[in-house]
Amino acid sequence: MSIADPAHAFSQITESFVKAPKRMLIDGRFVDATSGQTFSVYNPATGEVISQVASADADDVDLAVRAARRAFESGPWSTMTPSERGKLIWRIGDLIEQHNDELAELETIDNGKPFAVAQVADVPLAADMFRYMAGWATKIEGNTIPISVPYAPGAQFQAFTLREPVGVVGQIIPWNFPLLMAAWKLAPALACGNTVVLKVAEQTPLSALRLAELIVEAGLPDGVVNILTGFGETAGAPIAAHDGVDKVAFTGSTEVGKLIVQAAAGNLKKVTLELGGKSPNIIRRDADLNKAIPGAAEAIFFNQGQVCSAGSRLYVDEAIYDDVVAGVAEESNRIKVGHGIHPETQMGPLVSDEQFNRVCSYLQAGFEAGAVAASGGDKLDHPGYFVKPTVLTDVSHDMKVVQEEIFGPVVTAMPFKDDEQLVGMANDTHYGLAAGVWTRDVAEAHRLARAIRAGTVWVNCYSIFDAALPFGGYKQSGWGREMGHAVLENYLETKSVCVAM
Ligand code: NAI
Ligand code: MG
Repeated sequence: MSIADPAHAFSQITESFVKAPKRMLIDGRFVDATSGQTFSVYNPATGEVISQVASADADDVDLAVRAARRAFESGPWSTMTPSERGKLIWRIGDLIEQHNDELAELETIDNGKPFAVAQVADVPLAADMFRYMAGWATKIEGNTIPISVPYAPGAQFQAFTLREPVGVVGQIIPWNFPLLMAAWKLAPALACGNTVVLKVAEQTPLSALRLAELIVEAGLPDGVVNILTGFGETAGAPIAAHDGVDKVAFTGSTEVGKLIVQAAAGNLKKVTLELGGKSPNIIRRDADLNKAIPGAAEAIFFNQGQVCSAGSRLYVDEAIYDDVVAGVAEESNRIKVGHGIHPETQMGPLVSDEQFNRVCSYLQAGFEAGAVAASGGDKLDHPGYFVKPTVLTDVSHDMKVVQEEIFGPVVTAMPFKDDEQLVGMANDTHYGLAAGVWTRDVAEAHRLARAIRAGTVWVNCYSIFDAALPFGGYKQSGWGREMGHAVLENYLETKSVCVAM
């Protein structure tokens, strides 16, 4: 493990985009905050300030919501055919693809993640999301329904359902996949014909501001997509509470998810939530360990562990526990931690000093409770927010490090005796986002996939995401699903029409 040479430079395009004044997209125009306030954006690999962006507050939210309402009710968007709408959404995907490396660099400079990862994962997945959803724009259909109506004998009716957009949608996203989270939210809302006010995370506003430019370039009518930069309490909370917002979609902490639900009660806006996780990753004694061991490392260390579905609780059959833990620890020691722009870097810094301090304090709490580090367990002695990939053993289920989402490169490992004990431990969490199972026994794989209370179960793989595959949480991991055709339900109303004949 080594800190890579930070001298590798960002491209001129990225340097000049980052330095240029940053404005928000409201009603088709790039504007400063009404208050004139701005805030600083940091490069987490160095801790240095790289940019200043507008700091939206309730006044800016109100302007954006009004613009979105006008666009929804009377703009060209409201009368556009589904095919034309689909074409515009597809064009956003094309533009993202054309600017792949530039967007990937923005993710690296802003979030810290390795450029090589953003280049092949974050950005292509974002482009694909727009294309997948572009196809749905022309396929949103209701049903014709034969009805009987016992109190109207002899009467004939033609009854059917229309699927209509919910209206003005507020969307609040986190910093772990800044561009991709924007794509997950925007693409389905647009495919269904809604208009949007999106607030990006204060830690990582840059790629969404570039996306805003691409959305304008694609030709979306003014006000259909409004993109705000600002903090949770000053810009996020006014979206969740605004009476002019018909629906709010949120991704972030379970704690803030609950605040969103409360704020939404005022006008009973629809709510969907994609929240935290503490996902079990299970290695049975019949697993192919050549795949399961690197798979377990990848499941937790991908994206510096800042993944809501990270395999953060590793359960290993007691017969192979010592070997597997040693193997995962060895994998973690091999990971090259460094500046994301360096081509050899496999793991970057955490996103912010706040997240860095949070992860370090979890490590401390773990050690105080008796956990032992089989690898890592420490920050790097270097500027920037680097934490070593860490495997914790000697943990028990009542420890904070086993119960709470750490959102960093830290996995807890525990042995299990048999499947009954295993299922109890795997489900002993108030989260239910994802799980992994490694086994050669097909029947057992299916049995465990059913027994685990989670929205996604990966078997002999982990972190497989696709625009067509629904993703979301059981229990306190959320309400509703992202992606696939399941996500369309989040953005559509059902209208029953009954015609007497
Ligand atoms: P957060 O939930 O505070 O932030 C997520 C988004 O919500 C950001 O855009 C933020 O500005 C906004 N927000 C914050 N307070 C708000 C409020 N009162 N009303 C409306 N919007 C608000 O998450 P944070 O503080 O960045 O991270 C804390 C923990 O949350 C992490 O350690 C991790 O455990 C979890 N998290 C989960 C994510 C996921 O993908 N499910 C993503 C990010 C964080
Ligand atoms: Mg927060």
